[in-house]
Amino acid sequence: MEREREGKFPGVPTGRFPSGRGPIAAGARTLPAVAAALIVGACGGETSIVSPKGPAARSVTGLWWPMLATATAVFAFVAGMLLLAAARGRRKSDDDAKVTPRWGEPFIVVAGVGISGAILVGFFLFSLSRVQALTDAGRRPDVTIGVIGHDWWWEVRYPNGATSANEIHIPAGRKVRLNLDTDDVIHSFWVPSLGPKIDMIPGQHNSLWLEAARPGVYRGQCAEFCGLQHANMLIRVVADTPAGFDAWIAREAEPADAGAAGGRDLFEHQTCAGCHTVRGTQAQGKVGPDLTHFARRDTLGAGVKPRTDENLAHWIADPQSVKPGVTMPPITLPADQLDSLVAYLEGLR
Ligand code: CUA
Repeated sequence: MEREREGKFPGVPTGRFPSGRGPIAAGARTLPAVAAALIVGACGGETSIVSPKGPAARSVTGLWWPMLATATAVFAFVAGMLLLAAARGRRKSDDDAKVTPRWGEPFIVVAGVGISGAILVGFFLFSLSRVQALTDAGRRPDVTIGVIGHDWWWEVRYPNGATSANEIHIPAGRKVRLNLDTDDVIHSFWVPSLGPKIDMIPGQHNSLWLEAARPGVYRGQCAEFCGLQHANMLIRVVADTPAGFDAWIAREAEPADAGAAGGRDLFEHQTCAGCHTVRGTQAQGKVGPDLTHFARRDTLGAGVKPRTDENLAHWIADPQSVKPGVTMPPITLPADQLDSLVAYLEGLR
């Protein structure tokens, strides 16, 4: 009797229905990561709102600091008055305490109405001018990129026809306009170090100015609760040099290399092709991300794991254990076929 060959990925279920690790166990594994991300973010990490890495984000921070300073000053003033009133109230007799101040007293008119109103109207106009600058459709962008939110990943469309997912390449030092739409529910696009946050609303086209001063990788996150995997709907913006960006999108628009025939055949004839496109092959599914140049991305499942052979094998065999609720079904294959499928996908560069 022939024994089933041991696969390259010993921990990965093959040949039969995958392990019973459910959403709760997976959720418990991601909790420490979420807690760490919150702490790092709050202390000025990669996704901090107060460490802008481009002019659009700087414009938001330039609004935030004066607002914080003014709000702090108003709070200190009001708290001071309250303490003063409490201290005075104690010294007065019961009769005096019953006197209520009349409307029209200069202090109430000036401090309560005049100054408060002026601060609110001032900040309203100040923020309107910033919003106008950040979303102005008349601004002439150097590049326009379309981003479409899906449960729970991002489709990215470049001006030359290239389609990709989850990792958005932009040229550094250039004005990038993002046209933002959604395919299902409300998502919110937010890369704090590069620009403001804006919702993707069904039936409405929104746009956003995003700009990175220097090449680098900038992280972001869906900022509107959109279901089970909202927290794992991550964004990576990769800012290349302008020449690097041109080369990158030119390659991205090309069809896939032929690749190893065995793996390609599996991809085209297994469940994969029903949902994914690999341009240049028979796989033309439109439900999941375009995988034509899959191996040029650094992560899997919209940033949920680094793209390694082992993580990819896990993802294919049992995606629900990696990202519970994801639309992708488990693909149960014998070990040798899983190896060829992983090798094929890793060759899509
Ligand atoms: Cu998409 Cu939250």
